[in-house]
Formats: sequence, C-alpha cells, structure tokens
Amino acid sequence: MQNRSIEFFDRQFRSAPAAAALKLNPFETTALPFLQGDVLDIGCGMGNLACAAAARGCRVTAVDASPAAVAHLRQRAHEERLAVSAIQADLRDYPIEADYDTVVSIGLLMFFDCPSAYRVLAELQQHLRPGGCFVLTVLVEGTTYDAMFEPASHCLFQPADLLDRFAGWETERCQSEDFEAPGQTLKRFLTLVARKPRAAT
Ligand SMILES: C[S@@+](CC[C@H](N)C(=O)[O-])C[C@H]1O[C@@H](n2cnc3c(N)ncnc32)[C@H](O)[C@@H]1O
Repeated sequence: MQNRSIEFFDRQFRSAPAAAALKLNPFETTALPFLQGDVLDIGCGMGNLACAAAARGCRVTAVDASPAAVAHLRQRAHEERLAVSAIQADLRDYPIEADYDTVVSIGLLMFFDCPSAYRVLAELQQHLRPGGCFVLTVLVEGTTYDAMFEPASHCLFQPADLLDRFAGWETERCQSEDFEAPGQTLKRFLTLVARKPRAAT
C-alpha cells in the first residue's frame, strides 16, 4: 500500500475486536439523521455507518483503501442482505462516476496532501445532488497527534478556509471537538453538515 495512513488503519481493522468494530462512533451517529437516498461514504472504514444507512433504506456506495475493512463490510452486507456496494480504492485518485443524495466523508481528507484534499472535496461537492447533505469530519489546525499521518503529505484544515468552500450552502451542523490522544497530544475535529442549494426555479 505504501502509505502510512492506510497501513495504520488496515492494521487497526485487522485487530479490532468484533463488538467494538460494529459500533457507530459519535461522528457517525451525528451523520445518521441526514442520510437519505443514494449515499456515498468515502473512507468508510469498517462500514458501520454504511450498514446503518442501508438498514434505513438507503442505497450505499462505500469506499476505503483498507483491504481488511472492505472485506469485513462486504461480508457483513452479504450476511445482512444490505444494499451496500463496498469498493477498495485509494481515494486520492478515484474517479467518482455517479451523483448522490448524501455524501459522507468522516475522518478521511486529512490523510491527503492539501491540494489533493481540496480537489477531492470539490469533486464530492459536484457529485452531490441539489438539496442533499454533505457530512464532513476532518482534523483541523491545532491537532498535535501525528502517528497516523504520512509525514510529508497530510492536511490539517483551517476551519475558516473549509467553511469558505461551502459558501451559499445551508449549514445544518458545525461543531469543533477536541479529543485527548496518546503522548499528551490532541486531535481537533471539525464536523460540518451542509446542505447543497437547490437548483434555482
Ligand atoms: C479515521 S478512519 C475513519 C473511518 C470511518 N469513516 C469512521 O468514521 O469510523 C480513516 C479511514 O480512511 C481510510 N483511508 C486513509 N487513507 C485513504 C486513502 N488514501 N484512500 C482510501 N481510504 C483511505 C482508512 O483506511 C480508514 O478506514
């Protein structure tokens, strides 16, 4: 895989105990009420949100680079007969071909260099249908935990810069949260749920 971030998570997913692996994290719980229709979940991890969305009637496309995570999700979706298409791909260079009613990106884009992160963000925005929600969680400036980052290529977003990219969208949620991390370091997250403007009538 030749990427520290992907290897970091793949290792974690291989050793994750089953019960913990099946729990929605707080960011995913925040996302739940905004999911509808065709959902794209990029950086889906073990696919807990993808499965929860499908169980609520959404048709889900879930993409992640971790072979362990995608294998787990495929098996779970098959066993539970859930409408989830799980794809293994490096999202720094993944062509998005369809449009979606909801786009979810929780904990992914900071693992790209900033130009790639903003390019992918813009592409995701384009593939969200008018009136649909973009659910985004990223690490922002102030984060000091770096064990999972590729040293030369990651992106700690500036909140104001990120919010600028959603100018004209309706903000459903915008919250910053700090979490303690190993070695007395900090993870600072920004979660934004923004609704794309409907087409002018
Ligand atoms: C912090 S986890 C978030 C997983 C899930 N969204 C969640 O909230 O639990 C980051 C995810 O991004 C994936 N990832 C990191 N770099 C990636 C890349 N270049 N392409 C695709 N997935 C990547 C990892 O495999 C991991 O599943």
